[in-house]
Amino acid sequence: MESQDLILENLSHSFSKDAQTCVLNDVTVKFPANTWTAVMGPSGSGKSTLLNCSAGLLVPDHGSVMLNGQDITKISRADRVKLRRKSISVIFQDFNLVPSLTALENVGLPLLFDGQTPDRSKMLQALDSVGIQNLADRRPTQLSGGEQQRVAIARALLADAAYIFADEPTGSLDSRSTTRVLEQMRNISENSQKTIVMVTHDSYVAAFAHRVIFVLDGEIVDEIYAPTAEQISEKMNHLRRTEVA
Ligand SMILES: Nc1ncnc2c1ncn2[C@@H]1O[C@H](COP(=O)(O)OP(=O)(O)O)[C@@H](O)[C@H]1O
Ligand SMILES: [Mg+2]
Repeated sequence: MESQDLILENLSHSFSKDAQTCVLNDVTVKFPANTWTAVMGPSGSGKSTLLNCSAGLLVPDHGSVMLNGQDITKISRADRVKLRRKSISVIFQDFNLVPSLTALENVGLPLLFDGQTPDRSKMLQALDSVGIQNLADRRPTQLSGGEQQRVAIARALLADAAYIFADEPTGSLDSRSTTRVLEQMRNISENSQKTIVMVTHDSYVAAFAHRVIFVLDGEIVDEIYAPTAEQISEKMNHLRRTEVA
């Protein structure tokens, strides 16, 4: 399915009633359809919260999230679940694999949930695209952290969702697997109509995206288009100095 622009407007969120502890502070940002955006910022700056609000996993206190042409903060929980099944793939920081299922079965799960019959050869292909076709029959406990992460990535890439959200998708991978996964994501980003939002702390990883946005204390403070890893590192160093000051 095709993406439309993903637009967050005046998003604010606090996990407690205390307004001082605002995790997102009036964030307005557009993720244009079919683009890949990396989200960077110091630990605790609100990146995961921003991602979770965008993916319909968390309803913010204030503001709107326009996805697929509708404000997903205003629809019912049941409709949000339905929308997530059809249009949204999330690669979680902790993988979220089902322990009783094999790698292959985990990869096909979103399609099953959507009422489709996953095609075995396509599932194997998805595993192959992240280099672990040989591990198809293993369960998550029989896989290393990096291998589990790659199952989660294969699952997200196979599901035909227009929006892909990834929270540190390469955090547990060695550099060779990281490059492989990023090349696969680039391939998908260029050849199918996907809108990708990816949180990362790694400048090398972020440089694969079309744009990087920088989050500090719950606000978007900067952005770079067509970034290089050097430009990103420089900006991050600057942010860290700002944070300390
Ligand atoms: N479920 C939660 N309950 C309470 N506080 C939370 C919760 N999730 C995140 N926070 C707090 O919100 C802030 C931002 O968190 P997060 O969005 O995870 O940051 P990041 O991903 O940039 O490290 C942190 O101070 C964190 O402790
Ligand atoms: Mg986080």
